[in-house]
Amino acid sequence: MCGRIAVLVSGSGSNMVALADACTRGELAAEVVAVLGDRDCPALARAARRAIPTRTVAPSRYPSRSDWSAALLDEVLAHDPDLVVSAGFMRVLAPVFVEALAGRLVNLHPSLLPAFPGAHAVHDALAAGVAVTGSTVHFVDNEVDHGPIILQEPVPVLPGDTEATLHERIKQLEHGLLVRACRVVLSGEVRLSDGRTLVEERA
Ligand code: GRF
Repeated sequence: MCGRIAVLVSGSGSNMVALADACTRGELAAEVVAVLGDRDCPALARAARRAIPTRTVAPSRYPSRSDWSAALLDEVLAHDPDLVVSAGFMRVLAPVFVEALAGRLVNLHPSLLPAFPGAHAVHDALAAGVAVTGSTVHFVDNEVDHGPIILQEPVPVLPGDTEATLHERIKQLEHGLLVRACRVVLSGEVRLSDGRTLVEERA
């Protein structure tokens, strides 16, 4: 099995790099075949430096979210991916995209969903005063930061944490969590049943 992974990005791309490095080291039997962004961002530059094909599909060039999502879908499908990973992609994808990739589209979110969905999950967790937050990888459905959960792991909130320090610790955890989640999806260790997942992760 050598899975083809396309990654959607908007930001720094540390999770994309973690995935690409895990593939290169043979820890994940896969290849990052494309990195697609909604804007120019460091993640695209980091992918290009690794000779991974990149493309920017900017929403401002399309009349609607649906048209933009369809254009992005065309770009993604051109790379024939087995798995599409939204890793720090700061846009809501229209149903045309989500439905075409059902079961092959996962999102990484920096909280223990269903707690703290949305673009400010780390800030919201701090503001709520929780003692534990974390990260989730889930299949994407048509609700924001929602869909069958594949893997989750907790991260403690420490005294004196700022949004930046807490998010950095969450990212450190995410780099391993995302690789594991891609492995279980690509190797068929996760099954979908009644909108939930059954994960049987082999060691
Ligand atoms: C991650 O924390 C991810 O959960 C969230 O955005 C962040 C992306 O970080 N959706 P990076 O761009 O991979 O460094």
